[in-house]
Amino acid sequence: MDRIGNKTARNPYFCFMRIDIITLLPELMESPFSVSILKRAAEKGLVEIHFHQLRDFATNKQKSVDDYQYGGGAGMVIGVEPISACIEHLQSERSYDEIIYMTPDGKTLNQGIANSLSLCDNILILCGHYKGVDQRIRDKYISSEISIGDFVLSGGELAASVLCDAVIRLIPGVLNDESSALSDSFQDNLLAPPVYTRPAEWNGMKVPEVLLSGHGAKIETWRHEQSMERTKKLRPDLLKESGLE
Ligand code: ADE
Repeated sequence: MDRIGNKTARNPYFCFMRIDIITLLPELMESPFSVSILKRAAEKGLVEIHFHQLRDFATNKQKSVDDYQYGGGAGMVIGVEPISACIEHLQSERSYDEIIYMTPDGKTLNQGIANSLSLCDNILILCGHYKGVDQRIRDKYISSEISIGDFVLSGGELAASVLCDAVIRLIPGVLNDESSALSDSFQDNLLAPPVYTRPAEWNGMKVPEVLLSGHGAKIETWRHEQSMERTKKLRPDLLKESGLE
């Protein structure tokens, strides 16, 4: 994980990221990338996503990629050969800043990891299935292991989609108003302040006066206070983590 974020020499005027995803279920991942912000990011030429069907790298007739685990026990394990062949094929075409394995025993995804990954040019993501992948693949190729939470999904695809969404929206130019990513929850380890839109009064409930004042500095102070209050109440662990407590 150390290598994430060390990369600073990006062209400041044009950022482009390529993400390769190795999966047994590319269909499962298509819809998150074909709508809204992620779709627009691809249309603007800021990101390219390429899916690679792991089965295409199986050499047996049945195109199977999994096998029983040594030592016994329930659940199949994805074997070394197809994954190795797929990764090496991709590495022969470009070098990757990170090769990420989605797994429940990885480091839990947070905004800091997403920020760091958004600086990368080329990312390769491996999605696991069944009991996971042979440990030797993790030892030889994987630079980061990422979990999206302490629960087990049927495979890494949905987790990889979550990771990609969190990363792609941070690439400069993807969001129309770039500053809106900076004021998201978790940037600076604080939850975002409450937001309001018209009408200024609804069912007797008023939008806080300060937001209608047009006074930029006062609004900033109010928002910061609200962020602190919310974080103290809902996620005091974040304040402890960042020494803000
Ligand atoms: N694969 C299965 N469960 C997962 C999780 N929680 N995070 C990342 N990848 C996974």
